[in-house]
Amino acid sequence: MRGAPLYNSQHKNISGSRGRLETPALVLDADAFEANATRLAALAQARGIGLRPHAKSHKCAAIARRQLDLGAYGIACAKPGELLALFEAGIERLMLTAPLFHPAKIDRLADAAANGADLLVVIDRPDLVAAYGSAARRAGATIKVLLDCDTGLGRTGVDTGEAAIALARAVVGEEGLSYGGLQAYAGHVQHIHDFAERRWANDVANGRLARIIDALTVEGLSPAIVSGGGTGSHLLDLNAGLLTELQVGSYIFMDEGYQPVDFDSTGDAVFQTSLFVAVTVVAHSAAGAAITDAGSKSFAVDGPQPRAFLDGKEIGRIVWVGDEFGRLIPNDGVAVPPAGTLLECTVPHCDPTLNLHDYVHVVRGDVLEDLWPIEARGRAD
Ligand SMILES: Cc1ncc(COP(=O)(O)O)c(C=O)c1O
Repeated sequence: MRGAPLYNSQHKNISGSRGRLETPALVLDADAFEANATRLAALAQARGIGLRPHAKSHKCAAIARRQLDLGAYGIACAKPGELLALFEAGIERLMLTAPLFHPAKIDRLADAAANGADLLVVIDRPDLVAAYGSAARRAGATIKVLLDCDTGLGRTGVDTGEAAIALARAVVGEEGLSYGGLQAYAGHVQHIHDFAERRWANDVANGRLARIIDALTVEGLSPAIVSGGGTGSHLLDLNAGLLTELQVGSYIFMDEGYQPVDFDSTGDAVFQTSLFVAVTVVAHSAAGAAITDAGSKSFAVDGPQPRAFLDGKEIGRIVWVGDEFGRLIPNDGVAVPPAGTLLECTVPHCDPTLNLHDYVHVVRGDVLEDLWPIEARGRAD
């Protein structure tokens, strides 16, 4: 992380400053972000389900704080480094959604718990019970634990009731740990475009989860917390009655990867696009195409090509012409913009795009309101 913003802070709170940013600049439309955060918090609250948004999507303490202010009750993280960076920035109610191996990472987490972090972690194997237990006792902390369940993603987690019961018993018997329940993230379901197909896949995943919950309940190990879900399955999960909390990530931004997903069978957009990279036309190719100043160093490129907007109107798509350059493919009838034109481009995939930037430029209407540091960028440790 750099200390102070290198550029653009002089534009803060000046009318029209959104259109005058020095680029490339990661831009967050505050109204759209807040509408998304508020919408899901209200839906979850109406169903009596908690919201623990995933910071893997943003890695930014100010965004996490805003999500908490708007109705979330905790924040999830994918990596210990991500979690510790947010804890240092003042976020306290934190969950780590991935199992680990290295004892030093477990020690750092236990120290954070001893220093005030309200910590929730997941485990998927017996040696992690012992590792977290001894780290918690050494640090003088109690760490709450969820059992990670594999409901079809094929990544981490136990997939049978027997394995879950054995792990839960081990957690209950381990001094320094408390048994909180289950995590089940059906990542394979989230980006299925068709609503009926996604609902079917989510039902299959939920069937597996229900069998694990039933097996634990029979043994007196009923899970108080069942954490899971993502942006793609959030409406299904709100109605399915299995999860006690959602750990959605991308819903605040809506990247291009999520644009084709039909959330509610109407095909209508459920969330607004709030995240953009502002770029400038800096040249024209010999063939006359507009060349912009941002490529794979400013956009994660593992998703559909960005759409480009000029003064709020969609004018084409960006294709990559290198790490530092893009080329505008204008829509039919759109004139090639001159050098100096600022375009706002959607992002192919939000999580790794924020990982490329030190700051996000928070805009409201046409005004740059603030620059928020992305404290946990690069914290893949
Ligand atoms: C464990 C876990 N939970 C939640 C999420 C959030 O998913 P989404 O960004 O689709 O909302 C992710 C995303 O990869 C994840 O890995």
